[in-house]
Amino acid sequence: MNIALDTLARQPLLADITLEHIPQLDAAPAYRELPAEAGFKRILLPSGHSAIHLTRHAEVQALLLDNRAIRAPCNEEGGPSFLPTITPPELLLNNDIPDHGRLRKVVARDFSPSGVALLRETVEQVTHARIDLLRQQPRGADLFSLVLEQVPSTVDCQLLGIPLADRDYYRPLSHTVQVASDADVPELLRQFWGVYGYLTDLVTGARPSHADGLIQRFVASRDDSEPPLSDKELVGILLGVLIGGDQNILSVLTKAVYVLLAQPALYRSLVDDPQRIPQAVEELLRLLPLGTISTFPRLASSDLDGPWGLIPAGSVIYADAFAANRDPEVFPDPLAIRLGRQDGRHLQFGYGMHNCMGAALARLEITTVLQILVERLPDLRLDIPAHEVPWVEGIILRRPTRLPVRGFNTP
Ligand code: HEM
Repeated sequence: MNIALDTLARQPLLADITLEHIPQLDAAPAYRELPAEAGFKRILLPSGHSAIHLTRHAEVQALLLDNRAIRAPCNEEGGPSFLPTITPPELLLNNDIPDHGRLRKVVARDFSPSGVALLRETVEQVTHARIDLLRQQPRGADLFSLVLEQVPSTVDCQLLGIPLADRDYYRPLSHTVQVASDADVPELLRQFWGVYGYLTDLVTGARPSHADGLIQRFVASRDDSEPPLSDKELVGILLGVLIGGDQNILSVLTKAVYVLLAQPALYRSLVDDPQRIPQAVEELLRLLPLGTISTFPRLASSDLDGPWGLIPAGSVIYADAFAANRDPEVFPDPLAIRLGRQDGRHLQFGYGMHNCMGAALARLEITTVLQILVERLPDLRLDIPAHEVPWVEGIILRRPTRLPVRGFNTP
């Protein structure tokens, strides 16, 4: 069967499209299910720990809001984790109250919706420039490498104030870090410390960065924190920006575009009504986690009362935002992709004190790129069947690696 007929044969009506019509989208879970115990669903984490598995939206939201469910002990050698290694304690995600608040305050303004709005023009410029380039390519050109991959990485360099040329060095490292494979842990650590060392050089001034970028601004205002921020703390904060501001946005942006192109009626609906894009982005975000996990485990520092009943002190808990985002009590017909859905709040960016610091930036970039794509490339289509699109599988990074397309040459 040729591609056009193959695609046609699989196309449901817009209103009937569900996740089941999008090949390869959901990963196999990163945990193994265990028998329920004392009224709680249980899972086995890759670290070998048994964890309480919260899947209902109300429970996941309440757990993520509960500061007695702490992170630091999960980042100790031998602690409960999805990752094959521990990470530096200075990372925001590894901190609990009160230290977390002191570190998080540093990024609050730049990552607020009004703070990231200053980057909109850059997002637009790079997206337009890369689409111009795509237009000069023959059918089958790769939308991923030619357009999508360029946007978050360019914006992130401008935000941080680092030279674009540095991308060739640190991006392969940050890619490996987010894939977080347990196949070769010494190599994973080597690459992690490579990107960590790169950022340390920028913070200490051993490598050049622009005066108006976040790195130099955060260094210059380190004494505003009480006590002043150490180099390690600055690196811990900025590592989230260097990696998350690039790889995280790219993963969800790529999957969002993939979903729309895998079922062309979805893409067409946004071409016909681009006003719906911000709402459509929320529905896509609801369905698209970064990788194979959606949050990191917590440890109950005391007995936790809540909508789940009573979780005993010392329990490991996985608040599964992926499952919560498909809770039929909050999202009726949860597997249906309804780009105009107006149900409850999804938890794809987490909730509570560790809620994603880059949420506003991710929303800005994904929305802007989609707006430009549908406006300039209304006839865009995948050039291979969706089930043949290649993917990279990782713990925090899981996405298509290529999106060969056609229908982009019309002016
Ligand atoms: C669509 C893209 C993104 C998704 C789906 C996402 C998802 C998440 C989730 C679920 C959490 C909370 C994890 C937990 O509570 O265990 C989180 C936290 C975090 N994210 Fe994102 N993220 C995205 C983009 C970004 C971007 C763009 C950045 C940086 C610019 C970033 C940096 C961080 C950091 C530093 C934290 C830890 C915050 C804290 O502990 O206070 N992420 N993210």
